[in-house]
Amino acid sequence: MTQANNDITADSQVARIFEWRRGFNTIHLIDLGIKLGLTKALAEAPNSSAQDLAGKLGLHAPYVETWCRTAYGMEILDADELGRWRLAPYFDLILASPTHPRYLGGYVRLGTEVAADDFNRLVEAFRAGTTKPFQGRGEGFAQAIAESTWGLQVVTAKKLLPELPELAARLQAGGALLEIGCGTGNLLMQLAKSFPAARCVGVDIDLESLRIAREKIQSAGIEGRVEARHGTIAAATQPSTFDAVVMVEVLHEIAPQIRPQVIQEAAAAMKSGGWMLIVDETYPSTLEDMRRPEFKFPLMTGFEELFWGNVLPTREEQEKLLRDAGLTGAVQRTVIGEGFTVLATRKP
Ligand SMILES: C[S@@+](CC[C@H](N)C(=O)[O-])C[C@H]1O[C@@H](n2cnc3c(N)ncnc32)[C@H](O)[C@@H]1O
Repeated sequence: MTQANNDITADSQVARIFEWRRGFNTIHLIDLGIKLGLTKALAEAPNSSAQDLAGKLGLHAPYVETWCRTAYGMEILDADELGRWRLAPYFDLILASPTHPRYLGGYVRLGTEVAADDFNRLVEAFRAGTTKPFQGRGEGFAQAIAESTWGLQVVTAKKLLPELPELAARLQAGGALLEIGCGTGNLLMQLAKSFPAARCVGVDIDLESLRIAREKIQSAGIEGRVEARHGTIAAATQPSTFDAVVMVEVLHEIAPQIRPQVIQEAAAAMKSGGWMLIVDETYPSTLEDMRRPEFKFPLMTGFEELFWGNVLPTREEQEKLLRDAGLTGAVQRTVIGEGFTVLATRKP
């Protein structure tokens, strides 16, 4: 919430810095708890003492005690009258259940491992304008990204796509679906599960991610129906083939100069009456928007991914991209979660 200027004091500004600094430490505290197995152990055995946890996980008990006390102070843990610890409500799902749609361990890790490392390089990058793009950052990075977008993938496959009018029927009748920027294939696997009669094709330009995606497809034994292809959409697909085109956290990753071409190729690959579903982040277009709650998350992504070379699209750019690609029908726009934009439009 924005404070009116005349309510601001030096003390209130100082308090905000301390609050953000506590947030920084708390994210590291959570990350440590996940990596050491503390959150999982507490989810499995609520009301454990630090001694119990240390014994179970082979950790130094006084350090675990400090971790628990700090987490209690930050309201991540609750305690019983004997001073034993348990996770506060819902943190078993959010911090200890990696397959639950609300799990945020991956997003925390993206901050402590990827963003923290990138931020340390920014002084130099601001002087030289250098970037370190998504592609080629390696397997650990690709996995961290896939983990951080897990919840969004589940929501897309189980809710957003099935709710689009007539789409589920088309896909159940043996239609085809294209995922642009399929990365390590988590969403592609979910889509294949949600629409078991549909042919599912993923396209990406990151070979490391595609290698992981292909392993998942092979080990599920669905390579006859599901494929992860490398290259541009035009090279990897045929025109008028797909009943749905899906992009989750991809549009803002595509270099702005090639975005019109990618969306045009995607529109060309769609059948008439097919749906394009884009789940992405919308950069605020005005000063007023920059302070609105639904834009805080994309605003921060714009900063966090600056060094990746990413430029988040504004609402105006998103709409122009669709229009210029011939997707001139109504565009459904909603905001979900912390500030993800869902755009859905049908090919005329
Ligand atoms: C943030 S990841 C999202 C991956 C996946 N959709 C997920 O939710 O886990 C963005 C993906 O878009 C891919 N990408 C970027 N530009 C692309 C392009 N021009 N064509 C296809 N994929 C692209 C990246 O390589 C990366 O795998």
